[in-house]
Amino acid sequence: MQRTLSIIKPDAYGAGRIGAIIALLEKGGLRVRAARTLRLTAEQARAFYAVHSERPFFESLVAFMTSGPVMVTVLEGEDAIQRNRQIMGATDPAKAEEGTIRAQYGTNVQNNAVHGSDATDTALGEIAFFFCESDLV
Ligand code: CDP
Ligand code: MG
Repeated sequence: MQRTLSIIKPDAYGAGRIGAIIALLEKGGLRVRAARTLRLTAEQARAFYAVHSERPFFESLVAFMTSGPVMVTVLEGEDAIQRNRQIMGATDPAKAEEGTIRAQYGTNVQNNAVHGSDATDTALGEIAFFFCESDLV
């Protein structure tokens, strides 16, 4: 069993897609072990995406991620990190495989509906960014 962090981003949250997205994740074999909704501060968004701080899209990404509420969840399942990335689809919704979350609910390479951790070390850090051990059922 493995855990990963998922974020339903402000575009999908605002469009009322929480239920549809969680349904796809559950159908794909992942289970929600913790969940909360919040509106990220700019400081939180900058810290969460610090790895991208030198990229040209960084300030725009921070503005997008703070534009409305998000839902953060810890997902658990066999090979959860890769499984979640598969269910999400490619970063650019135009390149995402049919049936993936981003193909269905993403708008463009920035407003792409969901975040998912990309490796075991980043998953641990991203889960700890939002949750403590006692939050995990
Ligand atoms: O989210 P993912 O791991 O698929 O992609 P990333 O390369 O780690 O980028 C993080 C986030 O930055 C993306 O999900 C997009 O929201 C945003 N991004 C962007 O606005 N423009 C790009 N050219 C690439 C990414
Ligand atoms: Mg990434």
